[in-house]
Formats: sequence, structure tokens, C-alpha cells
Amino acid sequence: MPAPPANIRNAIITGWGTSQPEKILTNHDLAEMMDTSHDWIVERTGIHSRRVGGSTVGLSVESGRQALDRAGIDPKEIDALVLATTTPDRCVPASSAAVQQELGMRCGAFDVNAACSGFVYGLVTAHGLIAMGANKVLVIGTDTLARITDWSDRNTAVLFADGSGAVVLEATQSGEGQLLGWHLDADGSAERFLYAEIGGFIHMDGKEVFRRAVRIMVDSAQQSLAQAGVSADEISLIVPHQANIRIIEAACQRLGVPIEKAATVLHNTGNTSSASIPLALGAAIDANRVNPGDLVLLVGFGAGMTAASAVLRWGDGLPHHRSGGR
Ligand code: ACO
Repeated sequence: MPAPPANIRNAIITGWGTSQPEKILTNHDLAEMMDTSHDWIVERTGIHSRRVGGSTVGLSVESGRQALDRAGIDPKEIDALVLATTTPDRCVPASSAAVQQELGMRCGAFDVNAACSGFVYGLVTAHGLIAMGANKVLVIGTDTLARITDWSDRNTAVLFADGSGAVVLEATQSGEGQLLGWHLDADGSAERFLYAEIGGFIHMDGKEVFRRAVRIMVDSAQQSLAQAGVSADEISLIVPHQANIRIIEAACQRLGVPIEKAATVLHNTGNTSSASIPLALGAAIDANRVNPGDLVLLVGFGAGMTAASAVLRWGDGLPHHRSGGR
């Protein structure tokens, strides 16, 4: 795909927020519930503990509010809310409508379901809205996978968890902005490897998902990098989907990005699907790992099977049309 036109309205991230439920579930807790062990889970996944509980709307309101506060903007200024989730609280209406109401916003609001690629899908969609005239968009990624996990199935129960992350995107006047390249993909022929029926639990062929995950992440990331016209060694921070440390290590190695440049939180979040990339991004920002001008690569994969990536040039946090600061 050609690079986004240079004169298109672009955007930067001006606020971010994260939230996780209070209840911590350790590997040792799981070992009391099923035939598994702390050592097996750490060795095969890198996960030590995870958080479970809460609702998709509740966690989204918490991370969304933090992002709005950090951006220093009134919720009423938001032009659109994009909520990436695989686990809405209801089939209808979309969970984004309830989040919008609780945050005191009045704007277009919709859910995006692209599983663990959902946040990047939402972020790219938000940039499209900004290109078409929106000024401020709230993008949230939230999942409450504990509700669709079979807690007697050790193949899935050791992986999945709950959480939420959000960013405020604001248009820049100059056309200068963050999104330099992006790629979205879905391969419905791989649907059978990872799915949950409505009202049912997640079913997964872990080996097959693992095998495909590295390939589709690397392929997606390379397409975004090519579109952005930057090489992997120019990337300052890679924020991969937090599914399994071995998948992250293999993807970084194939991309030629040192593992030290990866943002990882999965050791104490588990796989939170749509929330995993914004949780890792939020932790990296909090740890001062992102500076203005840095190139950041977000890359996810998930059920579908979907893949999504984006190359961002980090801004200074202040959209150019706002002269008064935050
Ligand atoms: N505890 C202890 N032993 C286990 C467990 C467990 N929780 N699960 C499986 N085992 C056993 C197996 O029975 C097998 O035993 P055997 O050798 O006697 O047959 C052995 O451990 C090895 O099992 P494998 O399935 O080969 O283990 P593997 O190294 O593939 O790891 C895992 C399994 C962690 C699921 C891995 O395949 C994986 O991470 N896959 C990707 C999953 C993923 O990323 N899913 C999320 C996608 S994103 C989304 O959209 C939600």
C-alpha cells in the first residue's frame, strides 16, 4: 500500500490511561485449580500473574478517564469514541455507548472486534476519522476474557486475563503527525484455530496459533515499516501484542529489533487481547521509554486470524493548534 498522502490531516497521542481489575491470580493459584505449575507457565509463556474481574464498560471508563485527564481535555470535546473489544458487556447496544455516557461525552461511539489486533485496528480507524475532519478521538482497548475462559481448561486458562488501555488522539494543524505507516489484515480461513461461540468459552489450537503468530506479526510489521519508509533498526520501541514472551522474542529476532527495545508487561498482565498493546504502551510511557521524535512500532495478532501494525513518530504531547499548554 502506498504511504499516507503527505498533506493529509494527521494526529498525535496527547493522553493515555490504563486500568486492571484488583484481583490478582498467580500461577500458584492456577496450580491449585488445575493440573499445571508455575514453572511450566513461566517457561512456556513468560506469565507470572494476571488480573481478573470487572466489566468491559467499567475498565474502559477508568482507562478512558485517565487518558482524558492526562490530555487535559473536557470529555465533551471528543468527536468520536472507538472501543476495541472482543468481550462487550452486551450484544446490543455496543459497550462504547455506555462508556460514552459514563464519561460524559456526546459523540459517535462504536465497538471494533478484531481480537488481539483490535487496538491497532481502532487506532488506524481513528486516524481515518481525523483525516476526515474529526479533531479529538478517544481510542480504548478493553477485554474481560476471564468471562469467556473455561477455568478447567489448562490450555487456555493459563493465558487469558482482563484489562484496559486508552489513548486520546488529537489532530495536528500542520499535517505533521504520528502515523507514518499501517497495515491491517484478516485471514478468515484460520478462524477454527481460535474462536468462542456466543455464550461459550474460548477454544484454541495453541500450537497452530503459535506457529502462525510469529509469521503474521513479522509480515504485518514489515509492511508498516515499508509504508513508513523506515528500517527496523530505526525503531526505538516495539510494542507487541502480549500473548507469549517466546512469540515476542521470535518476532523481534526475525524483524531485527533487539528484545531490549520491546515493551513487555505480560509477566503480570497475561494476555488481555485488545488491552494488551495499550497496557504495554502506557507502561513504556510511564517508564519514560518514549521521547519526542522516537519511532514506535505497534504490532498485534489475534483471532480471525487478524494482524495489525502501525509505525508512529512520537509527538511532544501537545497538538500544534493548542498554544495554551495542558
Ligand atoms: N500446564 C502444564 N502442562 C501443560 C499445560 C499447562 N497449562 N498445557 C499443556 N500442557 C502440556 C501438554 O499436554 C503437553 O504435554 P505432552 O508433551 O505430554 O503432550 C506439553 O505440556 C506441551 O504442550 P504444548 O501444547 O506443546 O506446549 P507449547 O509449548 O506449545 O505451549 C502454549 C502451549 C503456551 C499455549 C503455546 O502454544 C502458545 O502460546 N500458543 C499461542 C497462544 C496464543 O498466543 N493465543 C492467543 C492468541 S491472541 C487472541 O486472539 C486471544
